[in-house]
Amino acid sequence: MSRPFRHLLDIESLTRGEILTILGLAQKMWEVSERSVKKVPTLRGKTIVGLFLEASTRTRSSFELAGKRLSADVINISGSGSSTSKGETLLDTVKNLDAMSPDVIVLRHSSSGAPHFIASRVRCAVVNAGDGTHEHPTQALLDCATMMKHKGSLEGKTVAIVGDVAHSRVARSNIHALTKLGANVRVAGPRTLMPVDIGAMGATVFERVEPAITDADVVMVLRLQSERQEAGLIPNTREYSRYFGVNSRNIELAKPDAIVMHPGPINRGVELEPELADGSRSVILEQVTYGVAVRMAVLYLVAGGTLDEG
Ligand code: NCD
Repeated sequence: MSRPFRHLLDIESLTRGEILTILGLAQKMWEVSERSVKKVPTLRGKTIVGLFLEASTRTRSSFELAGKRLSADVINISGSGSSTSKGETLLDTVKNLDAMSPDVIVLRHSSSGAPHFIASRVRCAVVNAGDGTHEHPTQALLDCATMMKHKGSLEGKTVAIVGDVAHSRVARSNIHALTKLGANVRVAGPRTLMPVDIGAMGATVFERVEPAITDADVVMVLRLQSERQEAGLIPNTREYSRYFGVNSRNIELAKPDAIVMHPGPINRGVELEPELADGSRSVILEQVTYGVAVRMAVLYLVAGGTLDEG
């Protein structure tokens, strides 16, 4: 059975089959990015608007390149350069953009639920590029693509997600995706940075990093999100690093072939030791490469393709 893939708002509402279909398509898109001419005519005549109302380097450039490699016309608008800085509401901004008949709006916003809110009020497709502390679906998809490249099927694999889980939309989307793909998900971080409902999402909670990464196939390190934190959640970054930092000593507890991931941007020396970030276990830049492929797949699907359900 197939259904039109209207929006991509979260991973939670996708089935395992849908996730695998996107990842399969991303693999084909990855091959396009490996060619010397990195462009196919698939989305010629389509318009994509990136509305990035929160800081972004990787996600924004990745969506832009993805759209351009599919021959779509892409424009990007940032918070400081938009009329939201003059007091216009998100809904007004988005309705005005929708009046110009784009095919897709890609939205990054600091409020959880912002993409869901606008999706029911515009004619175009909406893709969530990160909403507050809620979800970051394309990040989880590119993370899964990277893990599958190194580990094959994720069924039965152990993935340890370490750090500031409470403020991480990356962690939430990954927990949904990984549990649907059959992985065992562990999360570790200080109690003040661990959401109360995390166990209900299917992850096993650890209060210390060492048992969480022991025998793990994948260690995914999260950025300490200082911009989203109230004061006093951690004593200081030095202490955080000492107890929850991933480094060349504690990584030895993981499987010998374990890979190290980070969504970026990295606080070097805080959550992740620089030698490990740049070392042979690190797949951090491969994540970035897969980001373009996954976003090409998603843009293709929301701009008119269909999605086979498994
Ligand atoms: C993440 C984000 O913005 O949620 N970054 C990204 O998109 N690669 C993670 C982060 O900011 O820590």
